Formats: sequence, C-alpha cells, structure tokens
Amino acid sequence: MLPVRASTTGHQDGEGSRCKPILTTFPLVSMKHVLVTGGAGFIGSNFVRHVLQVHPDLRVINYDALTYAGNLENLADIVGNPRYRFVRGNICDRRLVDEVIREHGVDTVVHFAAESHVDRSILDAGVFVQTNVLGTQVLLEAARVAGIEKFLHVSTDEVYGSLGPAGKFTEESPLHPNSPYAASKASSDLLALAYHHTFGLPVVVTRCSNNYGPYQFPEKLIPLMIINALNDRILPVYGDGLNIRDWLHVGDHCAAIDTVLSRGRLGETYNIGGNNEWKNIDIVKVILMTLGKPENLISFVKDRPGHDRRYAMDSSKLCDELDWQPAFTFEQGIVETIQWYVKHETWWRRVMTGEYQEYYRKQYHGA
Ligand code: NAD
Ligand code: DAU
Repeated sequence: MLPVRASTTGHQDGEGSRCKPILTTFPLVSMKHVLVTGGAGFIGSNFVRHVLQVHPDLRVINYDALTYAGNLENLADIVGNPRYRFVRGNICDRRLVDEVIREHGVDTVVHFAAESHVDRSILDAGVFVQTNVLGTQVLLEAARVAGIEKFLHVSTDEVYGSLGPAGKFTEESPLHPNSPYAASKASSDLLALAYHHTFGLPVVVTRCSNNYGPYQFPEKLIPLMIINALNDRILPVYGDGLNIRDWLHVGDHCAAIDTVLSRGRLGETYNIGGNNEWKNIDIVKVILMTLGKPENLISFVKDRPGHDRRYAMDSSKLCDELDWQPAFTFEQGIVETIQWYVKHETWWRRVMTGEYQEYYRKQYHGA
C-alpha cells in the first residue's frame, strides 16, 4: 500500500475531476520543422522522442547549449533518425538562432531551454535572468523577424507563488513568483505574451506542475532520493517535509504540450497539472518502501529559503477545451520511474560527476 496522497479531491484517473476522456495526440497541421530548445534536458528530451514517435511528418531540430543539465545520452536511441538534428547553441546567441531558423526552415518553436532548479537560483540567480529572461527575449525576437507560425513557451506553476491548504491555481490567478527561478520564468511568460499582444507573434504559454519520470537530472527531489536510497545515503528532506507538490508524469506533460501546440488558442495560457498532490515526506517514504530501504535514512535538514508551501493546478481549461487528461496513474508512474533509475545506473553515475559533486557539497554541506 502506498501512503495516502495529500489531497483526496479528484484523481488523475478522472474520479472527481472535470477532465473528459483521453485524446492525447493530434496531427500538427502544417508544422514541418519544429525547433525544440533545451531538447537535451529532462522534459525536452522526452518531448523530442514523443514528437518523432507520434508525428511521422515532422522534423525536429534540437537546439541546446548542453549546460550541466543537458545530456545527449538522453537521446542516444534516436541518433541517426533522418528527421532529427542537433545543434549545440545558446538561446542568447541571436546570430546562431537566426541562422538555425533560416537554414532548417523552422516554422514552429517549442521553448523548454532554461535554468530549471530552484535551489541553484538561490545560490546564484544571475544565469537564471540571463537564460530564462534574456534568452527567451532573443528567441521571441528571432521568431518575430522570421515569421514563425507558432511559438509555445513552456512555463511552470511556480509563477503563481504558494497556496494555503485549500484551492488551486487557475490561469487567472495573479503572478506571485517567490524564488529567483520563479521570477525569471514569470518574466519570460510576460515577455512571450507581450510579443503576442504587441507584435501578433502566435504565442501560447503552458504552465505545468512538477514533473517526474525518466532522464530527470538527480538534483531534483525524486531522482535525488531514489539515488541516495540506492546508495544507502541520507535522504535530505527540507524543513518539516510537509510541503506539497502536484506531480505529473513527464509523458503526460509532453502529450499536453502536443495538444496545446495543435489546438491551443493563440495568446492563451494553459495550466497543466496531475490533480495529484503529495507531501514531500510521503513521496520519500514511497521511494524507500519501493526499494525496500529503511526510513531511518531520512534526515530533516535546513529548509529552502522562501520555500513555497503548496502548489496545485486547476487544469480544467486544458481538459474541457482541448480534451486532454493524464494517462499515467501516479501509482504506476512512480514505480516505473524508480525501476528506470535502478536499471540506468550508468546514466546517473555519468551525470553525477565533478560539477554535480561540487553543487551537492555546497547545497547540502554548505561547503
Ligand atoms: P532541465 O534543467 O532538465 O533542462 C534544461 C535544458 O535547457 C538543458 O538541456 C540545458 O542544456 C538547456 N539549456 C539551459 N540553458 C540554455 C541556454 N542558455 N541555451 C540553450 N539551452 C540551454 O529542465 P527541465 O526540467 O527539462 O525543464 C524544461 C522546461 O520546463 C523549463 O523551461 C522549466 O522551467 C519547465 N518546467 C519544468 C518542470 C519540472 O518539473 N521539471 C515543470 C514545469 C515547467
Ligand atoms: O512546480 C514546477 C517546478 O518543479 C519546475 O518549474 C521546476 O523546474 C522544477 O525543478 C520543480 O521545482 P521544485 O522546487 O518544486 O522541485 P524540486 O524537485 O527541487 O523540489 C520538490 C520539493 O522537494 C520541494 O518542496 C523541495 C523539496 N526538496 C527538494 C530537494 C532537491 C527536499 O525536501 N529535499 C531536496 O533535496
């Protein structure tokens, strides 16, 4: 038996939810060359694979700077696919962005590239402003000049700030970002929407809750806890462990983005969530139980400064308007994810090298 979820109001299987029956993929009419920024990261690589699998008429150009979080091994299985190209580049590099859009005949942009980890934004906010704000503006401007047909900006529930014990974020909730990461994402959302309003750039914005699944970099809660448990290391839970996140399988996020890209209304924002709230401590206990490890590995450590207490997304606009709903149950997805990390030790050992060790020491040992 898994520990009980934080919320019992509604469920990803549809119970109590307003979602309609599932329909996750659609032909992306007239989209032939999709530029995916950040396609070597966690969600981006899952999205690249998703597009190549379900849209045989599409070509994908993966544009990624390969920061510590970018890893071409995430896409090792599609190397050689004639519909896939990789270009190493920074989204802040306007000249290269222009060249790639022109040379590959890009008509659609799906923009994932970002600095994505809240704790790192607390250690050093500068690169978050550089990439997430300035980089996004460079892409928007390049897209405007090139006459791009659709620009999907991938954002996060963190732009709305923190919730009390009740209620959910809707697309009308005010923006109240609390971390430098969240503030940089809110800024980029506003820029994207301003480019639609001012210049008519065909923009759609998605805001998603916490993702889990294969290829997530081990700085994030779920892979970090799985790997520490496998290594019989301390599992560092921030504060009292009662912060709540709304977890969604990365495959469901990719299908939602595909749906919004195909049928979302221009200039609109769509929330994406799992209707699946969990307290951090309960997630950690599920991981330990699944791996057969003892709970005395848990250590409550100093809290994250400004730690948001609770996130929960109301995705009914996406569900009702565009007929999307999650396909994974959390019970299935979390066990498969744990098994994935068990099977892919070579993958995570390779990404947890020098830079990661240095970050880990600084973050968890203050060194
Ligand atoms: P990630 O950190 O795993 O991957 C980010 C990717 O962007 C990496 O491949 C990295 O090399 C690339 N990148 C970083 N800076 C770049 C630059 N200047 N130029 C080009 N490429 C650059 O991130 P993720 O978790 O896959 O998140 C992807 C997007 O989804 C982000 O925009 C994030 O804000 C958003 N998001 C993430 C979650 C989540 O739970 N992980 C939830 C909602 C939204
Ligand atoms: O909500 C969407 C966001 O989810 C995305 O926009 C971000 O890119 C993504 O990183 C994620 O942000 P979080 O801060 O919610 O995720 P993280 O995995 O870092 O932390 C999840 C929760 O677990 C949070 O309450 C902090 C806590 N935590 C995290 C780590 C890494 C711990 O207790 N201990 C840890 O060591």
